[in-house]
Amino acid sequence: MKNCASMTIAIISLLSILFFMSVSASNDRSLLTLPSLLDDATSFEEGLSNSLYHKSCHDVEGVIFRKVMEWVKKDPSLAPSLIRLHFHDCVLRGCDASILLNHSGSERSADVSKSLRGFQVIDDIKAELEKKCPRTVSCADILTTAARDATVLAGGPFWSIPFGRKDGRISLAKEATNVPMGRESVTKLIELFESKGLNVLDLVVLSGAHTIGRSTCESVQHRLYNYKGTKKPDPSINPVYLNYLRKKCRSTSGNVFLDATTPKAFDIHYFRNLKKKMGLLSTDQSLYSDLRTKPFVNALFNESSLFFNQFSVSMVKLGNILDAKSQEKGEIRINCNRVNYRHV
Ligand code: HEM
Ligand SMILES: *[C@@H]1O[C@H](CO)[C@@H](O)[C@H](O)[C@H]1NC(C)=O
Ligand SMILES: *[C@@H]1O[C@H](CO)[C@@H](O)[C@H](O)[C@H]1NC(C)=O
Repeated sequence: MKNCASMTIAIISLLSILFFMSVSASNDRSLLTLPSLLDDATSFEEGLSNSLYHKSCHDVEGVIFRKVMEWVKKDPSLAPSLIRLHFHDCVLRGCDASILLNHSGSERSADVSKSLRGFQVIDDIKAELEKKCPRTVSCADILTTAARDATVLAGGPFWSIPFGRKDGRISLAKEATNVPMGRESVTKLIELFESKGLNVLDLVVLSGAHTIGRSTCESVQHRLYNYKGTKKPDPSINPVYLNYLRKKCRSTSGNVFLDATTPKAFDIHYFRNLKKKMGLLSTDQSLYSDLRTKPFVNALFNESSLFFNQFSVSMVKLGNILDAKSQEKGEIRINCNRVNYRHV
């Protein structure tokens, strides 16, 4: 009963926050740019369908799940890597597998892509599907599904996925400057998410993916000794945690878990850590200091089922980000690393 009451309160507070957000959003969004963006997004989204492969590639989800499970069993650290790979794909040119193209000068070769992993899992799934149902399942759909399955295997929620994304033919390293690297302001993050049709709740909830996985020490070094030129560490780090990080990151080539409490479990400890000043990235911790995002952290930190439900909703939104041009000119790639043929 008590559980139920606190859940209700959390839901009500989330709903009221959402209401105020939608009111303020409709006031400050530019009327000139937004409607056209949304129109494109919706018209393509309507082309996605849960049953797309039922006839053309029976059991596509079974094939993908078994492959992801096989790889994650061998190396559990691939689960978070697949989730991140999907996020990086969708941020640039929508979810069109542009991150998988590996010609020189592609997104994959950009600095921010350096620690991306899991490409071989997608290649393996693609090879299997090309045998079973050639030229049918896009690499973008595979990547979305693999990210969902990786979430499930890490102990997170399941959601159903609409299919029909096309694989893009363009991938540019210079556009990767739009992918967040962990030092951005909350304003920057909100702007980035809103430009993709995602709101502040989506931002906070999806950042909860940092409940698993790791980061290079390079991404946090700037917080440890001389934060913003102060010759002092970032004051928003818990002192005990700071000590731990300094030891762990003596060498910048090291890695450190994003969730120091339960690094391998998909759970709400990411949000609890923020309340203890134990967010790893400065973008993580800033979600708790900024008044636009803090209420969501507070609503989520003790409500697993709320986190799981909303994570599912927000991941579907993330996976449905489509770019009109890349979809129109898109294709079903045969090899996820290359476009099918090149125009000369
Ligand atoms: C909100 C803005 C975000 C920022 C600034 C951010 C930044 C980062 C950074 C800096 C890393 C570590 C990179 C490294 O040094 O190796 C990382 C890892 C990760 N990110 Fe994010 N991220 C964001 C959003 C997301 C979203 C929306 C998702 C997925 C839904 C996500 C999933 C992950 C995962 C799972 C890892 C661990 C990867 C691994 O273990 O291989 N991130 N992120
Ligand atoms: C692209 O990927 C293939 C297969 O994974 C690999 O053999 C090749 O070296 C890669 N090319 C580049 C430019 O990274
Ligand atoms: C968190 O939830 C548990 C059980 O649902 C409850 O006993 C506890 O009081 C809650 N803590 C806070 C700070 O809300």
